[in-house]
Amino acid sequence: TEHTLSIIKPDATKRNLTGKINAKFEDAGLRIVAQKRIQLTKAQAGEFYKVHAERPFYDELCEFMASGPVVVQVLEGDGAIAKNREVMGATNPADADAGTIRAEFSESVGENSVHGSDAPETAREEIAYFFSGLEIVG
Ligand code: GTP
Ligand code: MG
Repeated sequence: TEHTLSIIKPDATKRNLTGKINAKFEDAGLRIVAQKRIQLTKAQAGEFYKVHAERPFYDELCEFMASGPVVVQVLEGDGAIAKNREVMGATNPADADAGTIRAEFSESVGENSVHGSDAPETAREEIAYFFSGLEIVG
């Protein structure tokens, strides 16, 4: 079994979509083994997304991630990293397959409702950024 970090982004928490998004994860066989709702500062968002620091949208991305509450969560399952990215759909909702979270709920490439780790090493780092071992209950 594998763990991945998921974030329900401010566009989705503002539109009251946390439960509908969690249902997509659970329907796909992913277990939510840790979860909390927090308000990031722009600096904390910047630290989390520092791999994108040189991208033109970095400042906009950090502002957005600090613009309202996020729900950070650890998802568990066989192949959880890839499975979560499948359930999320493509980064740009216009390219996302029907039935995915981004196809159903997202309004733009910037405000695309969810984040998911992209590899085992980043999943480990991202989970450790938000959670202690005691908070993850499988
Ligand atoms: P994450 O799971 O959030 O990491 O998404 P991803 O892996 O599908 O995309 P990527 O890591 O390439 O980009 C990280 C995030 O930056 C995206 O989820 C978007 O929120 C944002 N982003 C990516 N491209 C653009 C863009 O062209 N414009 C804006 N405003 N934001 C973008
Ligand atoms: Mg990414």
